[in-house]
Amino acid sequence: MTPRAPEPPSSATRRRVGRGLSAALGLGAAGYAYAWWEARWFTLRHVTLPVLPPGAPELRVLQVSDLHLTPYQGRKRRWVASLAALEPDLVVNTGDNLAHRDAVAPLLEAFGTLTSKPGVFVLGSNDYFSPTPRNPVRYLLPDDGKRFTRTKQLPWQDLAARLSYAGWEDLSNRTAVLDVKGVRIAFAGVDDPHLDHDDLSAVAGPADPAADLRLAVAHAPYLRVIDQFAADGYDAILAGHTHGGQVCLPGGRALTTNCDLDPERARGLHRHPATSAPGDPESAWLHVSAGLGTSPYARIRVACRPEATLLTLVAPD
Ligand SMILES: [Fe+2]
Repeated sequence: MTPRAPEPPSSATRRRVGRGLSAALGLGAAGYAYAWWEARWFTLRHVTLPVLPPGAPELRVLQVSDLHLTPYQGRKRRWVASLAALEPDLVVNTGDNLAHRDAVAPLLEAFGTLTSKPGVFVLGSNDYFSPTPRNPVRYLLPDDGKRFTRTKQLPWQDLAARLSYAGWEDLSNRTAVLDVKGVRIAFAGVDDPHLDHDDLSAVAGPADPAADLRLAVAHAPYLRVIDQFAADGYDAILAGHTHGGQVCLPGGRALTTNCDLDPERARGLHRHPATSAPGDPESAWLHVSAGLGTSPYARIRVACRPEATLLTLVAPD
């Protein structure tokens, strides 16, 4: 007996499948449009950090991180320029400023009078190397150790020279001491741990006990680095790099940090080591900025708005 050919789907079935596909495509497009828009929805986050000795004046510290700036990002440049109105006492720049070889001048223009404030900076991997197109799904996977160092170099020497000339301290594998409003601050910093550029031996050792405050700075908060700074007695460690997870679950839960820090501390203020109670001298504050940008090839964010942070440093109650 000759088998019967399958009957073609009815026109009603074809209509249902067509409607389902259209709805899925519409949802995908709407989701992408939202993520594109959120990546441009800059916000200033306020954090209070109880690290000053009794009687010290309150200090307002502006942390900027991960701008990933290209010359064409006018909205971002204008938003960064507006931060000068905060008149911070200190600026901390935790790296990944650039995403284009011609971005140094627009970056300095956006910082504007902020560079006349006391400041410190370290560089991130994206200050050194041009961004490349990558499968965005890879960002959500555990760090595979691959570094894209065969791309063209960005003008990081020019960036560091201009920031230094403006008066900010380069903390790449260096220490420094600044007096801010009469508060003596001992700094230590490392070059980017994501590229293995950190030279901890250059800065390791007990943080200056004579200082009023001890601050450590790194671009990527790898555990080997923040372990060392916490053990050396730094009161707080400021870092960036994680983009807060960049594409998060609803409620802002990060899936990745792009380093060996746990996703629960992908952004915001926590302790390190994480298990130590606040006030434990063995533990430091760790503040991770979600940063202001993304790779120009993946300009999307979900449940993780681009941010700068105004940290208000106070004496504990
Ligand atoms: Fe970054």
